[in-house]
Amino acid sequence: MARVFSGIKPSGEVHVGNYLGAVRRWVAQQDDGECIYCVVDLHAMTVPHEPAALRAETRRLAALLLAAGIDPDRSILFVQSHVPVVTELTWVLNCVATVGELRRMTQFKEKGRGQASVSAGLFDYPVLMAADILAYDTDEVPVGEDQIQHVELTRDLALRFNRRFGDTLVVPRATVPPVAARVKDLQHPTRKMSKSEESPQGTVLVLDPPEVIRRKVRAAVTDSETEIRHDPEAKPGVSNLLELYTVATGATIAEATEAFAGRGYGALKAAVADALVDLLAPVQARYAALRDDPERLDDLLAHGAAKAEAIASATMQRVRDAVGLLPRR
Ligand code: TYM
Repeated sequence: MARVFSGIKPSGEVHVGNYLGAVRRWVAQQDDGECIYCVVDLHAMTVPHEPAALRAETRRLAALLLAAGIDPDRSILFVQSHVPVVTELTWVLNCVATVGELRRMTQFKEKGRGQASVSAGLFDYPVLMAADILAYDTDEVPVGEDQIQHVELTRDLALRFNRRFGDTLVVPRATVPPVAARVKDLQHPTRKMSKSEESPQGTVLVLDPPEVIRRKVRAAVTDSETEIRHDPEAKPGVSNLLELYTVATGATIAEATEAFAGRGYGALKAAVADALVDLLAPVQARYAALRDDPERLDDLLAHGAAKAEAIASATMQRVRDAVGLLPRR
């Protein structure tokens, strides 16, 4: 059985890009993999943050993952900082990674652009992510397209480590969904939908009420034609709507194109909004019940952390031996 690991940052609200690109697949993989899912609070500290907000968002995100269908009886769900051995592994991997390869990371370049100064944590972000993945002997990492480069780096680090110190780390691979690997912003359909608050109207949140979802989809930017066809280059807005429709309903692009032929953008938008409302309604209902019970949530997370820690500690022991750290008597 494949070991599956993935993570999500507790910063900003979870949007349908996160849900369709990653979280929904995490839920599905529980049927055929041994799954470990993580709320990566340490990654949320790489940009300036509010301590109280981080604590609250970590709980909220864990509740949302449970509401989305992560089943703590079948999968391990935990908070990254509850298993501190991962930061120790990060240090060791820092001594394997090079400044040159980290400098090439697109996400670092994008997040750092225009900033007077960025934290060393933001630069080192992909190494912490590699430690997350490698600590749990991961085979598969279900992510959206924007994280592929980080998983490729993780592979490179694992291979380099194994070459240098002997076969120690499992070499993982990224898996991305065939559609919705990069859900676009509704207002700026050439950009990915993102948690940064630049485009609230272009970002459909998993917890948005139905009327808000409908308003945002109705206002989605399209183009000055009328033809509904999937052509991401020439028609990014319409193509994004078609993709959202297909992933939310299970229809293929061809079926959707045929169903909307000659019906105009208004009909497509209404159908996309309905599909998203239906898709998210059960998650929203379960979330409302879960967030009222923080005690139970903290218990579940503690239980998850204990199971995760057992795996990560065993990996770290192999790593310590491999690199020649003297065991403590
Ligand atoms: P994060 O929190 O930014 O995003 C969580 C997941 O959502 C995917 N995603 C998208 N998919 C499709 N369309 C979009 N517009 C879209 N936006 C985001 C992301 O690809 C991701 O899968 N670095 C990671 C968290 C992380 C991690 C890990 C992931 C830390 N350690 C180990 C995997 C394994 C991140 O910031 O994800």
